[in-house]
Amino acid sequence: MNFTIKTTPLQTTTTSCMVLGVFQNKALPEVTAQVDKLLKKQLSKILDAGDITGASGQHIIVHNPVGIRAKRILLIGLGKKSALNRKRYANFLDITAQVLNKYSLSDALVTLPSLPVIDTPADKLGQILAQTFENSAYRYNLTKSKKGKKPTLKKVDLYLADKSQRRGVKKGLDIGSAVGKGMAVARELGNLPANICTPSYFGEQAQALAKRNKELKTRVLGEAQMRRLGMGSLLSVGHGSDEESKLVVMEYKGSSDAARPNVIVGKGITFDTGGISLKPGSGMDEMKFDMCGAASVMGTMAALCALKPKINVIGVIASAENMPSSRATKPGDVVTSMAGLTIEVLNTDAEGRLVLCDALTYVERFKPKSVIDIATLTGACVVALGGVNSGLLSNNDDLAGKLFQHAQDVNDPCWRLPISEEYQKQLDSNFADIANIGGAKAGTITAACFLSRFTGNYPWAHLDIAGTAWLQGKAKGATGRPVPLLMEYLLNN
Ligand code: BES
Ligand code: MN
Ligand code: ZN
Repeated sequence: MNFTIKTTPLQTTTTSCMVLGVFQNKALPEVTAQVDKLLKKQLSKILDAGDITGASGQHIIVHNPVGIRAKRILLIGLGKKSALNRKRYANFLDITAQVLNKYSLSDALVTLPSLPVIDTPADKLGQILAQTFENSAYRYNLTKSKKGKKPTLKKVDLYLADKSQRRGVKKGLDIGSAVGKGMAVARELGNLPANICTPSYFGEQAQALAKRNKELKTRVLGEAQMRRLGMGSLLSVGHGSDEESKLVVMEYKGSSDAARPNVIVGKGITFDTGGISLKPGSGMDEMKFDMCGAASVMGTMAALCALKPKINVIGVIASAENMPSSRATKPGDVVTSMAGLTIEVLNTDAEGRLVLCDALTYVERFKPKSVIDIATLTGACVVALGGVNSGLLSNNDDLAGKLFQHAQDVNDPCWRLPISEEYQKQLDSNFADIANIGGAKAGTITAACFLSRFTGNYPWAHLDIAGTAWLQGKAKGATGRPVPLLMEYLLNN
């Protein structure tokens, strides 16, 4: 999608559709009031007629307005002025994109970035706009023989009343547009069925991305290489599957060798049957989404390649398929991790932590500034936080604080849960150094406690995205979260 900033007077700007906001009880934002004047109060008359009151989410189209050079106006209800925060702003942009596509329009002039959004600087208004519009253009089609209607919107002009904001907004647009593209990458991988999106597919996609971008170097480790590294825990997960497990390592280098990298590690279980601890059948198809952590890593690397910031980032994907078979790991089996800790696999359905722990040991070699893992790790996190907040657990208050704040900044919220010492004993085992499950209580926390045994050598945070990575029901599909949060963190730290 193409974004251009316009600061020329509204009456001389040509467009297929000018998008204007109206607050609750017909209160007009500054730009809308200006246009109303140019239109000799045509908008006021429409409001007086009661066609739209300004309630949040309402919208109407006005054709052939006389006095400006727009073919139409899309008037969007913004609700209460004092309640216009960045979440609502993003929501209005989303509605805007949907309506513009519904009317098959290919260009529009959007004035919403000139709105007074609470605590939101102009550059963020641009960033959120580009991210929302870019993301709204995503459609899943690959495995449908009847492809849906393509989104028509290609060119978005942003009207800025304040010329001095141009530079900041441009910077925001570049970031948001890269993030939106990264989200689309993450969503596509998430949505692909498990018979297409296998561990090897992740490897191929990463290599293809590196081929297109000279800043990116990719290495794909197969089972033989992982065996040599001693990754007995990761390998135990894919043991029952005919698909080969892979560790995908992507190095994005935008800065000097001396700059220590931030590292992101994604859980890439391309299908989670539960293994011998088999999951119930109903809704099991959704376990194709058990690689959304890995998809968010790939999406973030793609976003970095699009934006090319001067930073160093390493993305790692720990990928396996969790299947039952006569070769599969059994409850009670003891495996040895790369770190040397032995693990009693009491439940083969707690497999995410088993692939992650070896990846978390592996990344020590990069002397990371910080390590963030992203995983659809526990059903307990869905119970605790639902689909709104991702779970955030960390061994470092500074890192956790930053992630919390960045998450707020880009509408990709997370909420911290504790990993205090007292929970650790739930992982005691009679037959190994550690068990892979911690009982019925505090499931999200004990999962993070397990990971914390492998992350003592760097600042580390864990994002449990079990509730936020995909939507259920009619809108079933991957969300692209938490690519916005990861990008915001990486670009600012
Ligand atoms: N991938 C699942 C977690 C999950 C479940 C995510 C439902 C989203 C929706 C994970 O591998 C798993 O099965 N976790 C178990 C852990 C338990 C056996 C300790 C769980 O949450 O039930
Ligand atoms: Mn599982
Ligand atoms: Zn899983």
